[in-house]
Amino acid sequence: MTQAPTRAVGPKGFRSAELGWPELDRIPHPPRRVPFLGDVLGVNRHTPLQDTLRYARRLGPVFRRKAFGKEFVFVWGARHTADLADESRFAKHVGLGIANLRPVAGDGLFTAYNHEPNWQLAHDVLAPGFSREAMAGYHPMMLAAARRLTEHWDRAAEAGRAVDVSGDMTKLTLETIARTGFGHDFGSFERPRPHPFVTAMIGTLTYAQRLNTVPFPLAPLLLRSASRRNAADIAFLNRTVDELVRARRADGGGQGDLLDRMLETAHPETGERLAAQNVRRQVITFLVAGHETTSGALSFALHYLARDPGVAARARAEVDRVWGDTAEPAYEQVARLRYVRRVLDESLRLWPTAPAFAREARQDTVLAGEHPMRRGAWALVLTPMLHRDPEAWGADAERFDPDRFEAPAVRSRAPHTFKPFGTGARACIGRQFALHEATLVLGLLLRRYELRPDPAYRLRVTERLTLMPEGLRLHPERRTPVREPVSEPPCPVPGAGD
Ligand code: HEM
Repeated sequence: MTQAPTRAVGPKGFRSAELGWPELDRIPHPPRRVPFLGDVLGVNRHTPLQDTLRYARRLGPVFRRKAFGKEFVFVWGARHTADLADESRFAKHVGLGIANLRPVAGDGLFTAYNHEPNWQLAHDVLAPGFSREAMAGYHPMMLAAARRLTEHWDRAAEAGRAVDVSGDMTKLTLETIARTGFGHDFGSFERPRPHPFVTAMIGTLTYAQRLNTVPFPLAPLLLRSASRRNAADIAFLNRTVDELVRARRADGGGQGDLLDRMLETAHPETGERLAAQNVRRQVITFLVAGHETTSGALSFALHYLARDPGVAARARAEVDRVWGDTAEPAYEQVARLRYVRRVLDESLRLWPTAPAFAREARQDTVLAGEHPMRRGAWALVLTPMLHRDPEAWGADAERFDPDRFEAPAVRSRAPHTFKPFGTGARACIGRQFALHEATLVLGLLLRRYELRPDPAYRLRVTERLTLMPEGLRLHPERRTPVREPVSEPPCPVPGAGD
């Protein structure tokens, strides 16, 4: 599906929302605005999202904040979000944090403007890489990455040591996307420190977030040394990816992974291929988009499982029942873990790890019959608040309860109330990949370990464009008996659902 181009935003995507909202004055904003600076009193620059959630609770389903002269409209009401999901009137807006990633990811899938031809080309060429068939091909590689995690956790369990959950989930998901996407091994579990690629990547994500917290015209001055470091990080990412592509071209390909598709597949209708520079941008895009978010989702789910023994017992009983004593689950056996999947969904409800997405008006329109918007005006959907809207989720929306995702409960809710993967043509292409990987890993960990939390731990959330539990450590204890993996391939389960 081709997206109609919407009005182009400035090169940095920093056009303030106020330009396109004729009745902006009717939208509430925090009290105590400071001239020029805006709503910055009491703002913690490390937790801008959580600050915004606090304002959302006070100001209601549509509100605005001004930072350094730029005005942003936030939306989280279920009714308003459903309206923004109407693809005939709204499209993705590339702005704020996403636009800040353009120097590194350019017109890669995630950061492409709607009107850029490479979006449609790459989307059409790469979408088959996320088909059911492709996913079944990735499954053994996902299992291999998970085995490296459990070897690491086994050693911690034997020594009675706690594990760094978010750190280990990040290693796991990076190795998984690197292996399944590009046949690459970063050796994350074998290194004492993160791979330099990871350090550079986190550097660019953090820099992109920091750009939003300083007045735009002063950024070159205030962030001079950070900007130099960022340029060096980008150069390092580019060099690493170019080397990876060179090696693939040299060995002739044939792995059938995403990189093969990027290099060899022509568009089914036009015969066009991705240009070399675009391949570089797509590889970086997938390495970044394909692991931080899933790592956060797994970490939050493990936090809730460790904190709630009743939920963990139900999930574990399901894994034991569905997987029996097969050494390693077959592809089809993963989607049968319905309760584990609900645990994951509920974790993504409370902490959608990509916590906002922006939508812009394709033409002059009125949001939810209340707020006029001109063509090109945009708003940020604040997903963690949408997922807590009492209208959709009830008065106990803050409570962790996987049963909210039982089929009848899901059917009884209005559409567009659960949006961790965004919406429409620009929604997450890796959704099935992430859900399969995360359900598989949760199943494997539940089957192998009891997860003992630190009783003093209280959830703290760290922000660097994505969300992650901070300082989460768990004590894994081996359950007995657990069958060891065998080398022959596991038997598929006939007639398994998806
Ligand atoms: C739990 C894990 C994940 C979450 C919560 C998540 C969330 C999202 C969201 C909200 C968007 C839309 C952003 C927007 O509208 O601006 C998105 C887009 C995207 N995601 Fe994911 N994602 C996850 C995992 C993955 C994985 C595993 C991959 C790749 C293997 C991936 C690749 C992408 C790409 C390439 C896009 C851009 C799609 C386009 O515009 O055509 N994501 N993701």
